[in-house]
Amino acid sequence: MAVNDGSAQFEGRLSEIAASTEALLDRLLGPNPAAGERIRPARLLEGMRYGSLGGGKRFRPFLVVESAALFAVPREQSLMAATALECVHCYSLVHDDLPAMDNDSMRRGRPTLHKAFDEATAILVGDSLLTFAFDILARPETHPDPTIRAALVLGLARAAGLGGMAGGQMLDLAAEGRFAATPPQLDLPDVEQLQAMKTGALLRYGCVCGAILGGADEYKRLALDRFGAIIGEAFQIADDLLDVEGDAATVGKATGKDADARKATAVAILGVTQARKKLFGLIEEAERALAPFGADAALLKSAARFVAERRA
Ligand code: IPE
Ligand code: IPE
Ligand code: MG
Ligand code: MG
Ligand code: MG
Repeated sequence: MAVNDGSAQFEGRLSEIAASTEALLDRLLGPNPAAGERIRPARLLEGMRYGSLGGGKRFRPFLVVESAALFAVPREQSLMAATALECVHCYSLVHDDLPAMDNDSMRRGRPTLHKAFDEATAILVGDSLLTFAFDILARPETHPDPTIRAALVLGLARAAGLGGMAGGQMLDLAAEGRFAATPPQLDLPDVEQLQAMKTGALLRYGCVCGAILGGADEYKRLALDRFGAIIGEAFQIADDLLDVEGDAATVGKATGKDADARKATAVAILGVTQARKKLFGLIEEAERALAPFGADAALLKSAARFVAERRA
């Protein structure tokens, strides 16, 4: 195997970064209040730990750490940003599963948060994980330069909120026909936009995060931005294919739900075969976007393959 082929290394690196993310989250979500906090209510802390520890592929942390590694950013710094992003992702899952949203009972192979606890706790766990992400980003350990920290905060806010993930979730629910007598008819570009927001924005931020931390020049920042956007689009198509073709035991969450819920997906519009074709086309595009980094980007290229081929 060629030395610059990252595929052999990928699985090892993903699990290594997952373990480091887990350890850092475990430490940050300890029982002792941080400066400025009063107490950490046990039930809320327990819920935050349940919603963020002990599961998940940690693919977003991987993107942050590996994109930052292109600029030789110290691992302690990139892991802080990675963990912040994972907190937003975990919050998005807790809220996505709520009865008022997708109404799911299983996540990461175990009961969803509102099943294991209760709905009010799940709402507050989501609120607290979201807020905690910005707490983490604002800490000097994340980067000594406050300008960089402010850029990280702004980037995450834009990716997570109104014009990003939360906005995409709104469009996702609207497309089901929940808010109007006649559901909006979404064409492929509409669905692409919705998915670029609900899923793409956080993955894209993960890639751009490395460039922000590393003080990358515009050319390299844009390359990572493009890579992240493509990976983001591919990731949701893969998720939607798993909903059709995967089994719950392997995927760790209920499958076969999107069609019944009349979710707007690329798979619903194109069918499985064409959607898969589109997915693999995107992976090639993602790999091309990494050209400015040459052999240094081998692991990120394998990450693109992983997005398309994953079974969970
Ligand atoms: C699931 O994300 C939700 C989507 C955005 C499609 P992941 O597939 O990354 O979920 P975990 O973190 O591995 O559980
Ligand atoms: C999730 O999309 C996007 C989020 C912002 C959480 P889905 O609703 O398809 O994710 P799963 O299938 O429940 O993980
Ligand atoms: Mg959803
Ligand atoms: Mg869902
Ligand atoms: Mg899904």
